[in-house]
Order: sequence, then structure tokens, then C-alpha cells
Amino acid sequence: MQCGYCTSGMILGIASLLDKSPDPDDALIRESLAGNICRCCTYPRIVRAARRASALVTSGEGSVAEPRAATPGLPAPGRGPWDLLSLEERDYFDVLSDGMVVVLPDERGADGGWSTSNGAWIHIGAGGLVTAFTGKVDVGQDNRTALSQLVAEELRVPFERVRLVMGDTDLCPYDMGTFGSRSIPDAGENLRATAASARELLLSTAADLWDVDTEGLVASDGAVRESDGDASITYGELLHGEQRVERAADVSVSPETGWRTAGAPIPKVTAGAIVTGAQRYPTDLSRPGMLRGRVLRAPAFGATLRSLDAADAQAMSDMSVVHEDDFVGVVAPDTTTARRGIDAIRAEWDRVPQPPEDELIAHLRATQVAPSGGREWEGPSHYEVGDVDAALEHADVRLDRTYTTAYIAHAPLETRAALAEWDGDHLTVWTGTQRPFGVREELAAALDVPEVQVRVIVPDTGAGYGGKHTGEAAIEAARLSRASGRPVSVTWTRQEEFTWAYVRPAAVIDVRSGATSDGDLTAWEFTNINSGDAGILCPYEIPNQRIEFRPAESPLRQGSYRALAATANHFARESHLDELAHQVGADPFALRLRYLRDDRLAAVFEAAAERAGLVRTPRDPGRGIGIAGGVEKDARVATSVEVRVDPEGRVEIVGVVVAFDCGAIVNPDGLVNQIEGATAMGLGGAMFEAVHFEVGEILNPSFSTYRVPRFTDVPPIDVILIDHRDVPSAGAGEAPIVAVAPALANAIFDATGRRLRSMPLIPDGRVRSETAKVDAAR
Ligand code: FES
Repeated sequence: MQCGYCTSGMILGIASLLDKSPDPDDALIRESLAGNICRCCTYPRIVRAARRASALVTSGEGSVAEPRAATPGLPAPGRGPWDLLSLEERDYFDVLSDGMVVVLPDERGADGGWSTSNGAWIHIGAGGLVTAFTGKVDVGQDNRTALSQLVAEELRVPFERVRLVMGDTDLCPYDMGTFGSRSIPDAGENLRATAASARELLLSTAADLWDVDTEGLVASDGAVRESDGDASITYGELLHGEQRVERAADVSVSPETGWRTAGAPIPKVTAGAIVTGAQRYPTDLSRPGMLRGRVLRAPAFGATLRSLDAADAQAMSDMSVVHEDDFVGVVAPDTTTARRGIDAIRAEWDRVPQPPEDELIAHLRATQVAPSGGREWEGPSHYEVGDVDAALEHADVRLDRTYTTAYIAHAPLETRAALAEWDGDHLTVWTGTQRPFGVREELAAALDVPEVQVRVIVPDTGAGYGGKHTGEAAIEAARLSRASGRPVSVTWTRQEEFTWAYVRPAAVIDVRSGATSDGDLTAWEFTNINSGDAGILCPYEIPNQRIEFRPAESPLRQGSYRALAATANHFARESHLDELAHQVGADPFALRLRYLRDDRLAAVFEAAAERAGLVRTPRDPGRGIGIAGGVEKDARVATSVEVRVDPEGRVEIVGVVVAFDCGAIVNPDGLVNQIEGATAMGLGGAMFEAVHFEVGEILNPSFSTYRVPRFTDVPPIDVILIDHRDVPSAGAGEAPIVAVAPALANAIFDATGRRLRSMPLIPDGRVRSETAKVDAAR
């Protein structure tokens, strides 16, 4: 699993299947689980798990296992949010007893500069446990396991002895948010530095105790030992009776080449809790006396409340209506009653004009804002080298194309949820967000209380994909809780999630390029309208380039999504380069290698191409292979897709190969999980995902109308990891998604000669005619 929110359903599905068919093949496993959605798209891994369960059942070796406690005497991992633990459970963490706290107070990133994480702190308990605190959160990417590995590595303690307290604004150091694949580069580096400093402090403490030099001592397995003697003392013994707080010194971290715990394929630390149902997600939490809240929604975006009649709802037993300015909600003992209360409210609304979906491209073009130079934060950006206009004018070969992407939804299986509780004028909110400190700020502003009186706690959450940056449900629960005087839980329905959460921006991307008759690339002009400038720069060394991002007015509420605009920009760039190669009579793969100046990127291209058999031609009729790649969040990715297209245009994806290099790999098992999941998720956006809307309303706000990848959509995914131990680790949650769509488009062209320039490429599973509306709208 990744977030694990789907896991219980998968387990029931597999158990039911094995009951009827103890030895199913992969096709039967996929078919029988086809109704189960894993939005993290861990489908290949779940099929492997089902096969393994089948092998255990048929061999008679399978048995019902007790939930695993990592170490005798220690609790099973993943017990839910710290704040809900009993005092006895908290004692397991050892934080409140003897020991040493080491604090890294300064902001520092991987390169000593900008960082999303402000420091870290670690407690080494006299009982032998290590508790590390970070403001990052785990929404399924399993940074919890990887960050724990880095702490264990530097402190030289067994992995099982490290606990991580994450995303609690009262307990953890400030963090900007869990986004941008920055957990490992930022929080990981901070935790490494803090743990390395703690290790040196423990060595000094032992040296003082034994009156020897630290040079002759080593730290290993949670103890300090003499290098060439028998003396040893555990960290717990060293810290017995101590209550120390130390500031982390500037200590070198261990070289990645010598990693033993880091770099190892350690399974997800909360997996045991997830498969046994012990994991408590935000939607699972409750407090004594808790009520359920629902909120009245407008019928369309931008609509404002004209009149309200809540008398019928107010008259219902066990029902309270809360009306504050434009906010209207109800609280009741259970969700069904709360829903009835909302249904009983009569409201009239004033709508505002909105563009319909079929006018989207024209609308974005009409409202685009051109850059005035340079790059503005979340505003227009402009990059230019050489003389693009002259190069285009003198080019022997010119290509002028437009590529588009649709709005798509994050659709996490766990919808937005929050539980709020007031204690006097202090507010605590448990919620699933990627920005606990940002949501604390939102709550303080919305509820008009000082930030210091607000605490946000983020339990491990049922996924995010960049879609849980904001605190809507938290604010709603806090309002309802303050008005009712009781703890209140708000969980958005699936329809609310599809309608009122933000979506990935739609893109209109114009690309103009030029080349000589000899096939030398001379000009590159690339303009992204609306979706953003992530991944917009061109890794190919073309002498004359103009690259711009132009924001526009979006009819839908849009925001960040896994890899931001890098998916759209890679789609346009890698598709266009393929087109240009064919236009100048060059092989697209060879042309890429000729113009790449990034050796690591070239290496992943070569690895993926070789494994996929890209250069083997001719292909069987109807078969095609495409490749695409790029640099995103400091990671290098190349994705190759092979398709079979039948005479009616039906597309079958035969297989995908992904070669990936994110520097030193902290956890190869978790990394493969991320790459497989992101690739399969990318196939959804590439093939069929699209949010449809008419004037101010979402038309497909359910999983039956908004299609996401299912078991039967996901082909074999072959992952090649390139472990660069000599390069700092980059994050890997986003980069694997960026090259999927252009690789598919290039494969379809290879198979059919038809070029698809609008994502989703094959919404009904077939190659359709070129999108006339794009050219017509230019
Ligand atoms: S692991 Fe399946 S939805 Fe997250």
C-alpha cells in the first residue's frame, strides 16, 4: 500500500477471491478486484501481494498472524496521532522520561540555503527509544519510513527503535508543507544533521565517562564501544538520570556510500497497523461527545446566498443550525441526521456568469497575462536565450503546434476531513492536510484567534497528491464546534470532494520550433497558458529559445497537483520534439541524445530505451513504442510505453518501462512503490481523466462518472533504479508521473501515424481524429 486507505477493501476482496479460487492467475486477480479503487495506483503491488497470499494458502504455510510488534516490549508501529495516545502508550516513546534532546534550530536546506523545513529535534531516551520530530506529514508517500531510516543510520541504532512524530504544530518544528518532493532533501537533511550531532554528543559523553579520547570510540547498534577494546555502554545507560537539551553542532553526516540502514528496502513502518485495521485516519477519529457536521453548499461556483429559511431544519430534534455570514451548517449526532438537516434548508442563490467547457481554450487565451520579464512568484515567467524570432524566420523547417490538457481531479479515497475541539479559547483540530502550519494560520484568521491558541495535528492521511494544501474542512469543523460547544467532525462527501476541492489546472501550450534542412535544431518557442511553469525549461541545447508561462483566469478553482505543471509541460515538449524529429527525418531517440547535455538524463533515456527494445524495428503491425523523459525536482526520469492498436483504433497498453535516478536511494522498496503508483496514476490523466463542467457546475462528481485507473487499466510496469550514491537524494513522489503522457502519445504515433495533442488522449479507449477545436481556437 501507499496511504493504505483502500487496503482493508483489497484484503476483503482477495480473501473472497482465494476462498473461491485458491490459485488465481493475474488476470483473474485483476478482474475480481476491478471494482476496488486504489487511487495511489499500487495495483501491480497488490496483484503481487494476492499472488503471495495464494502461494501461502495453497502451500498450507499461510496462517493468521498476530499484528507484529517491531521489537519485543515495544508497541506495534503506527498507533495513530500522538495526542490521542494514552499516557501508558506515550511512555513507550520514552520522551517524557530521562534522556537527551538535540535541537537543530536553524533553517537549512540540502545546500545550506532555502528549505521548507525549519530544523528538527530528536530525543534519545534512557529507555533506548529514539523519537524524532518533523513538521512533514505522511499522506501515503511513506516519508515516515524513509526519514526514520536516515535517523537510524546517523545515530547507529536499529531501525525499530526510531519513532517519528509528524505534523503536530505544538510538538514539531515549523514546516512550510509537505509538497514539492522536499521531505527527503529538506526534513531528511535536517534530521540527518541532528542525528549525526546527537551521535557525536553521545561519543563525547562516553569519552568523558571513561576519560578517553573520542577517536578510539565508535557508535553502533545503540551503544558506544571502544574500537580496540571490550568496553561498551548503551545510549540508555549513558543517559540514565540525565535530562539534557543540546543544540546540534555542525557535524558531517555519514557518506551515502557507507549507508547500511538507509539505502535498504525496509517495508512501510505502518503496514502492520494498516492491514490489521489499527491505523486511524482523520475520518476515523472521535472524541467524547462528538457531533457530526455538514455544510450547505452553493449550487454553482461563485453563487452567493440571497435568502435562507432554516426553520424546518432547526425544528428537527437533535439538530442545530449554524449561520454565520455566508456560512451555513448543521450539527447532529450522526451523519445521516446531519444530511437530513441540510436537505431541509431552503436557500436562494444569486449566480454569476461562468464560461462553459467548450469555450475553455478561447477563454484562457483571452484572459492570459503576458510576462513583463523575469519570473514572478506564481505569476508570469519569461526565459530567453539567443534570437528566437530570427531563428524561426530563417528556419528551413518550421513546426507550429498547440497541445492542451484537461482539468483533472486529485480524488483521494479519503475525502477532506477534520475533527475540531475547543477547550476554552484554545482550539485543536485533527485533519488530513499537507500543510499543518499553513492550516493553523488559516484557522487563526478565519476564527479570529491568535495562532498560538490553535493546534493542528495531522494523523497519517488517506492520500493527498498535492490536493490537500488547504484547510476548508478544518475551518468548517472549528466553526461548527465553537457554535455548538461540542467536538465536531466534518467529512466531505465524494461529491463535495469532486466539486469543491481544487483541480489540476488545464493547459494550453503553444510550441513553435525551427530546424535546418540538415536536421540541426535552431529555434524553440514554448508558451504555457494557465497551468504553470514547473518543468517548463528545455533540457535540449537549442541555441535560440523563448519560454514563457502566462497565467489566465480559470473558470474552475485550480491548485497544485502532483508534479504541478511539469506533466503538461513535458507532454507538450516531449511530444513536439518527437514531431520535429519526424519532420526533419531524424530518429526521435537519437535526436534527444544528440541535444541532451545532462549525462544522468541521457543515462535514464538509454536504460529505458534498451529495456523497452525501442530501437528494434520494424515493429509488428499495430505495435508502437514511444519514449519521453525529463528532469523534475532534481530527479531524472525516462518512460517508455508500448502499445498495440487494433484496426478499429482501440488502444492496449502492452507495457511500461521507467528508468529513474533520484541520486542516493534511501529506500528502494518505497521508491519502486512511488514510481509504479505515479506511473499508473499518470496513465489515468494521459488516457481518460477529465473534469467536465458546464456553467459553474461539475458534471462528473463521482467515481462512476470520473474514471480513474483500475486494476484492468494498468499494464506491467518495469522499473529500473539507478542508485547514485555520490549524489544527494532528491524526492521521488512527483517526477515519475511527468513523462507518461508524452511517451504514450509518441507510442500511439509510432503505431498509427496519428498524432494526439490533447490530454486525455484516448477518453473512450480509441485513437480519435485530431482535435479540430484546438486549431480552431487559435
Ligand atoms: S494505497 Fe490505495 S488508495 Fe492509497
